[in-house]
Amino acid sequence: MKDTKHLTASAADMEEAGRLLREGELVAIPTETVYGLAANAFDEAAVAGIFEAKGRPQDNPLIVHIATLDTLLLLSDDIPEDAFRLADAFWPGPLTVIVPKSDRVPTVVSGGLPTVAVRMPSHQAAQAILQAAGVPLAAPSANRSGSPSPTTAARVAADLDGRVAAIVDGGECEVGVESTVVTLCTEVPRLLRPGGITREQLEEVLGTVEVDEAVTAPLKDDRKAASPGMKYKHYAPKAQVTILKGSAEAFREYVNAHAEDGTAALCFEGETDGLTVPYVTYGRRDDDAAQARQLFEALRTADDRGARVLYAACPRPIGVGLAVYNRLLRAAGFRVVTL
Ligand code: TXA
Ligand code: MG
Repeated sequence: MKDTKHLTASAADMEEAGRLLREGELVAIPTETVYGLAANAFDEAAVAGIFEAKGRPQDNPLIVHIATLDTLLLLSDDIPEDAFRLADAFWPGPLTVIVPKSDRVPTVVSGGLPTVAVRMPSHQAAQAILQAAGVPLAAPSANRSGSPSPTTAARVAADLDGRVAAIVDGGECEVGVESTVVTLCTEVPRLLRPGGITREQLEEVLGTVEVDEAVTAPLKDDRKAASPGMKYKHYAPKAQVTILKGSAEAFREYVNAHAEDGTAALCFEGETDGLTVPYVTYGRRDDDAAQARQLFEALRTADDRGARVLYAACPRPIGVGLAVYNRLLRAAGFRVVTL
């Protein structure tokens, strides 16, 4: 057990976080998407520690976070023109770009793939920590593998206290779901994971973008995952989640008819009247940004309240709603009932 330091976003604490990272320690840091568990991306032993602290499968590669565009040149010797266009439009921000990796990127970071995922976060504390560390930081979400990503420092501490050197509290994450992942290593750019930057936004810069079928469908056994993370059960609370597709009225009727001990509802704000089971809300039906911001916290709250069966109102899969739908589908193991 480590004695985990709890740091704030003060200048002195940012320096401390940077020093720990340079020394090969693990530090949980805030970003605009979700909290990340960071280590020096060039330090193989430090990066190996991430997998151990999270209980993460070794073949699931990590995202490398950078503070400035020139660091990208260290991570790849063969940067596609599109990467610069995307950087220009969306960095710093919630977009991860996959490019061919250089020899400087350790295999443990790329999970054995010839490519590397790179992102420049916009969160001020993340930027300050990157500057203080002076090295790129490999960082997956700061949860134990399989559980919902943390959007507050308290949720990070619940999962990782005693397993990491420090946790930096930078407040609640603004976006709430992980970054959009797009690969530039396919013939046509391909969306591997939807997030805060929407498909529509990517297409404005790149033209056509293909959406990997794993975004909204379970992986077939014979298909290799384009993004290894997609083959693992993800974002799952302890409760068994079922998505209900339909109107607020149909949702209420179905949930009330199936109410038993341990049943709860995950529904939209303003649509809770008449529900006979405990509920947690995650934004209004027409507010995809609020749904993204609140989803993971709502799933963890349902667990805290002892929900065993959780019926979730289905988000509209457009804009950031596609990311919300993608995460909820995984939390539900793709169990969807159309009402
Ligand atoms: O918003 C985010 O992206 C957060 C914050 C901390 O930056 N990070 C995050 O990391 O969500 P993680 O490890 O939970 O998710 C990274 C995803 C995984 O699905 C992984 O398989 C995929 O990116 N990935 C990473 N490198 C890849 C590569 N070279 N090729 C394909 N997929 C890759
Ligand atoms: Mg994750």
